[in-house]
Amino acid sequence: MRAVELQDLLAKMTRQEKINQLLQLAAGFYIDLDAVTGPIEEMGLTEEMIDNAGTVLGISGAADVIQTQKKYLAKNRLGIPLIFMADVIHGYKTIFPIPLALGSSWNTALAEETARISALESAVSGLHVTFSPMVDLVRDPRWGRVMESTGEDAFLNAELAKAFVRGYQGTDLTLDVERVAACVKHFAAYGAPVAGREYNTVNMSERQLREAYLPGYQAALNEGAKLVMTAFNTVDGVPATANQWLMRDLLRKEWNFDGVLISDWGAVKELVPHGVASDEKEAAILALKAGVDIEMMTMCYLNHLEDALEAGEIAENLVDEAVLRILNLKNDLGLFENPYRGADVQREQELVLSDAHRESARKAAEESIVLLKNSGILPLASQQKIALIGPGAESKDILGAWSWQGESEKAISLAEGLRKYVPVEQLMIAKGCEVLTAGSQTEVAEALEIAEAADVIILALGENSDMSGEAASRSDIHLPQVQLDLFKQLKKLGKPIVVTLFNGRPLDISELSQSTEVAAIVEAWFPGTEGGNALANILMGAINPSAKLSMSFPYNVGQVPVYYNPDNTGRPEVGRSADEKYVSKYLDIPNEALYPFGFGLSYTSFSYSDLQISTTKLTPSETLKIHVTVKNTGNIIGKEIVQLYIRDVVGEVVRPVKELKGYQKIELAANEEQVITFTLSENELCYVHQDLSFKSDTGEFHVMVGPSSHDDGLLKTSFTFIN
Ligand code: NOJ
Repeated sequence: MRAVELQDLLAKMTRQEKINQLLQLAAGFYIDLDAVTGPIEEMGLTEEMIDNAGTVLGISGAADVIQTQKKYLAKNRLGIPLIFMADVIHGYKTIFPIPLALGSSWNTALAEETARISALESAVSGLHVTFSPMVDLVRDPRWGRVMESTGEDAFLNAELAKAFVRGYQGTDLTLDVERVAACVKHFAAYGAPVAGREYNTVNMSERQLREAYLPGYQAALNEGAKLVMTAFNTVDGVPATANQWLMRDLLRKEWNFDGVLISDWGAVKELVPHGVASDEKEAAILALKAGVDIEMMTMCYLNHLEDALEAGEIAENLVDEAVLRILNLKNDLGLFENPYRGADVQREQELVLSDAHRESARKAAEESIVLLKNSGILPLASQQKIALIGPGAESKDILGAWSWQGESEKAISLAEGLRKYVPVEQLMIAKGCEVLTAGSQTEVAEALEIAEAADVIILALGENSDMSGEAASRSDIHLPQVQLDLFKQLKKLGKPIVVTLFNGRPLDISELSQSTEVAAIVEAWFPGTEGGNALANILMGAINPSAKLSMSFPYNVGQVPVYYNPDNTGRPEVGRSADEKYVSKYLDIPNEALYPFGFGLSYTSFSYSDLQISTTKLTPSETLKIHVTVKNTGNIIGKEIVQLYIRDVVGEVVRPVKELKGYQKIELAANEEQVITFTLSENELCYVHQDLSFKSDTGEFHVMVGPSSHDDGLLKTSFTFIN
């Protein structure tokens, strides 16, 4: 349909039909009406309103979607199709590793491929829009939703955000019906709730917001993402859903976003408990004024906009522009011509959870699993006698909290993965305890008995999937005590222990890390459908681990938030003697994280040498070339993530101690070496100044290249930027 035809369509709509377009309801209102009859009356909904709501959340399956759309269109006076949206966060039925794990892969091509497959499975199952990517920058592992983010760094997050959008949307959403539209969320700064408590206040300066938190969203929008979702939190005291500065001035005017802005679930009505609206009518007015086009799952628009318009409390054109944006999205999705779009029962059967998709999920998990500690015990030899112990041993709860359509019974457990390598008589298995409850005396005795008989213990620990994700903040980020108790009993046996972890956040694993009995720690995150195969491939050495953390692991919760790029202080610890008192440090732990951003081991080793820069005086018209030689000094092939950081030594505003500006994931054969080249130009030196302008400072810059953000191991040089 052409733009002018959309205008004609808008002109034909009654006011009520327009307001109905702004409503999004969940699946139950369409496919299980009996179950929601009570709520329907309470919500002030009529059947007619349901029949005319513009979008729906959470219906999928080609047959259901086709039937729902058919029924809907039969009743819709102007034949305006419904959009089907859902949370496909890291896979539809083929579940990929959680986004925090994909972040650890530092592999944008892989991230794009996971999104492409997610889109394909979703689209043939009838979906049109996914509420992904979630690009909230995160620094506090107490917050359960860190699992949905790609981590603590603005640059890496932005690269991955773009990759996800490309994978979901492809290059032509109208023609390519096997892609879906991407919805970037949660705008803005949802990842920074005070004290890591879900839905809590966010407090930061506009400068900080622009420098660290906004680049991820902006990158996704520059890549063409069609929708944005509002965050639940406040931004400078005003809930995002009612924040005119954020949504009108910044998102629409400054960034020219003309796509659909959708509220998060219930966020319009929540303006009342937030205390910025006295009732639902005021909430509706505030949200519409802020530019929220779709109200998800509450009825403030539906029940109150008509009155507000009648009373002249809100301008009619605000409703019109919101409706037009929704019609535009329907048009971009090609729904007027083909309301069923990619929904195809046959394709769905062929493609969803196909072997090829499972293989991609396994590869993604293999690139996302981080080796945190290794005395040399890994990879394991297949003739060793292994005791596989712990709640994660045979667990299929490895998909993660955001795997709505994922079926955990279809997932491969660690035990199943290992059985492909280790003969039955050499692989003994005992749970020992549950994730949160202690094992019985017999269960513990069984675990100790098999441990006694083994050469090596694989201790599979972690969280349940519902211990991270939405509404899953934890104040204590240790492993549950029952698991630590089991560890303590096993450790007395003096056998080498390989700890594997299934979890959704950086945990406090200091005790395991410091224990000499723990010979290795492997962070597998929630690795998705093929998790057990991927983890076994790593443990047994078929795959050389190559992932590096995209979010730091703290020493303990008292150190949180700890991230690699804090601003420098006036009393830095670096360069002072250990006994100096009045410096910025802890008395009991180091300032740096236990396992910092960018850290991850391999079964081979890499050396870095010969850091060279093309000039020591850089001007605005030039590009600085940075060369470094990286060599695989071990005897097996391996992948390395080479990282480039800079530091602006003297800025107008205090600058972070380092900032990631580039990375390359390379593969080197044993003994192979390669010269890696990065480039930097003025743009990479720019940052948000006091007056909020994005510009550079002249003066000295440090250049650091190495295997992680930790100072040890980084090669350093410097140049001067002159104007
Ligand atoms: C609430 C979550 O915050 C959001 O991420 C999700 O997309 C919506 N619910 C819809 O399920």
